[in-house]
Amino acid sequence: MSEKEESQPLVPQQYDLFSPLFKADPFPTFARMRQEAPLHAHQAPDGSTIWYITRYEDVTTVLRDDQNFCKDPRNACPAGAISTASRKTAAHQRINENMLFSDPPDHTRLRALVSQAFTPRRVERLAPRIQAIADQLIDQVQALGEMDLIAAFALPLPVFVICEMLGIPDSDREQVADWSQAIISPGSRNLNYSARKRKVRAFTTYLEQMFMDRQINPRDDLVSALVQAEEAGDKFNEAELSSMVALLLVTGHETTVNLIGNGALALLLHPQQLTSLKRDPTLWEQAIEELLRYDGPVETSTSRWARKDVTIGGQLIRCGDLVRVVLTSANRDSHQFENPDMLDVQRGNNKHIAFGLGIHYCLGAPLARLEGTIALETLFRRFPNLRLSLPASQLQWRSGVLFRGLRQLPLVWPTSN
Ligand code: HEM
Repeated sequence: MSEKEESQPLVPQQYDLFSPLFKADPFPTFARMRQEAPLHAHQAPDGSTIWYITRYEDVTTVLRDDQNFCKDPRNACPAGAISTASRKTAAHQRINENMLFSDPPDHTRLRALVSQAFTPRRVERLAPRIQAIADQLIDQVQALGEMDLIAAFALPLPVFVICEMLGIPDSDREQVADWSQAIISPGSRNLNYSARKRKVRAFTTYLEQMFMDRQINPRDDLVSALVQAEEAGDKFNEAELSSMVALLLVTGHETTVNLIGNGALALLLHPQQLTSLKRDPTLWEQAIEELLRYDGPVETSTSRWARKDVTIGGQLIRCGDLVRVVLTSANRDSHQFENPDMLDVQRGNNKHIAFGLGIHYCLGAPLARLEGTIALETLFRRFPNLRLSLPASQLQWRSGVLFRGLRQLPLVWPTSN
């Protein structure tokens, strides 16, 4: 997801949604919000309203309602009522104009096209390669006895997988990962405007060459499939192709890294749950669903705007207001989940919404599930005595309201030497 992470609000808020203290454990605050203010009006510095929606029922209502809520602020009404923040978002770069930020009929068309290429079969076929990548990354650190799980394993694994799926050669992987970082939250990566522009331009040039090449020499990769995708006589144009590849690259690793990081941490902090997984590895599939629910990688959805005055959970949301649903809060709502704050890898009837819902439901969910399962199963099988190398209270979490993920996860294990 390429939406810019939010900066600190200037106006004091009733709920602290931005401090490192909150990020360390947001769940008590979300529980209070669900109780006291399930639709919380946050005043942005420009005076506009951002609604944070925290209850499962309200969150699912909004995500399913693409009639009253849109993703492209230019489709909200009336044009003049959109806040400065929204206008800034509307001006995002061409490379960021993709289906995640579009509405029907554009969204329907783009999603139909990409679904032709991003098929379940293509994902299933990747399993042995994902396993090989996971083993290779573990081989590289095994003798060291320590690693930062994020830098050494959780981040490179999904980057390598998505590059491989797209057909980006190994020799270009590091470069492409660097370019794709320039597209994500540029403010938080200390990149000035011209440096970012240079990188985005270099990236689009690289992609254009790749598209040309695959048109002439199609291969068995996702870029070739995207170039050839055709639905009802319609095809991607070049700008759409570039932004689709950028979207897949960014969503393909910014989220899965957190499934691996948050999932590993949750299991290390719940040794009995980990023991039951070691005893019965067939539980992994169910466990991944529970880890997605318990501490999911995406905290809030991307922004939506009200197209007209609409009432959600008894609260009036005005036309043009910006809405963010809090997925990690909905997934801990006791009206939906029994003992929601308990990690239970054998939980049944787990209707979590870590992948969203409705027309923008995560396209990459099958890939993310496969990567998460292989990564965590491999990690705990190869390192049966893995431990945190510092108290969990000292871990640092990424800032911003979009993602929920650790900056580092330092781990140690005994080596034979
Ligand atoms: C555990 C990992 C992942 C999580 C938790 C996740 C979560 C999400 C969520 C919540 C949305 C909807 C956002 C909204 O409605 O505002 C979404 C959309 C999307 N995700 Fe994922 N995602 C993950 C991995 C991936 C992967 C691996 C890919 C592709 C390689 C991917 C591709 C996409 C795309 C293309 C969309 C936009 C779909 C649309 O607008 O129709 N995601 N994801």
